[in-house]
Amino acid sequence: MLEKLKGNKKVVMLTAYDYQVARLVEQAGVDLILVGDSLGMVVLGYETTKKVSMDEMLHHTRAVCRGAQSTPVIGDMPIGSYATPNIALENAKKFLEAGADGVKVEGCVKDVIEKLVSDGIPVMGHLGLLPQTAEKYAVVGKGKEGERVFRESLTVDKLGVFSLVLECVPEQLAKRITENVKSVTIGIGAGKYCDGQVLVINDLLGMDDSFKPKHVKRYANLAETIRNAVAAFKKEVEGGKFPDEAHSFH
Ligand code: KIV
Repeated sequence: MLEKLKGNKKVVMLTAYDYQVARLVEQAGVDLILVGDSLGMVVLGYETTKKVSMDEMLHHTRAVCRGAQSTPVIGDMPIGSYATPNIALENAKKFLEAGADGVKVEGCVKDVIEKLVSDGIPVMGHLGLLPQTAEKYAVVGKGKEGERVFRESLTVDKLGVFSLVLECVPEQLAKRITENVKSVTIGIGAGKYCDGQVLVINDLLGMDDSFKPKHVKRYANLAETIRNAVAAFKKEVEGGKFPDEAHSFH
């Protein structure tokens, strides 16, 4: 899906979870949209991604695909949905039926990736910090652990993932991986040498001003914008200023 982009311009991926945001993200020209299972945390209010279900993911994937009709959409397979290769295939097909163009799986799940790829399903890998199974959110791949992540990258690459998300890994490790795999590496907290970058859209937009990990750059402060807009509405309604003539029917 993205092989041709490797070595050319940087690939830009963003998450989206609903119709309107997907439309805007597409209008801004991103290369790929990920319906991430971060949905669980930023949209559904769960503490981690571990509670997200297939039904929730499919519901939001359908909405995103209605909004972004000419950008490839990747569905993030939630925990448990790829417990075995056969379960993975069944669920991956549901993502494609919902309108997605491919799926993402976390970890070096060899049998699962092999099965999906052999069935013609575009698969995005995800290594480094794996939120579905991680006990804590921290950089993965310092020292000896880096060799493991490097080897896993070569393995999933050989199995045919078209792209590989590297989450919270040291920059030099991401560089080494990027230089040694065919798939397009997409970093989040993985430094500047990846073939592309992804952020969670809510983080980029500054929807939660109590949360800002080091790798996140806020390009807007929607938390403040929304609070201010709602407070202005409340004030005008309470003060009898809204609705005025311009917003009333006669
Ligand atoms: O769920 C998600 O949003 C992700 C990205 C952080 C890559 O997996």
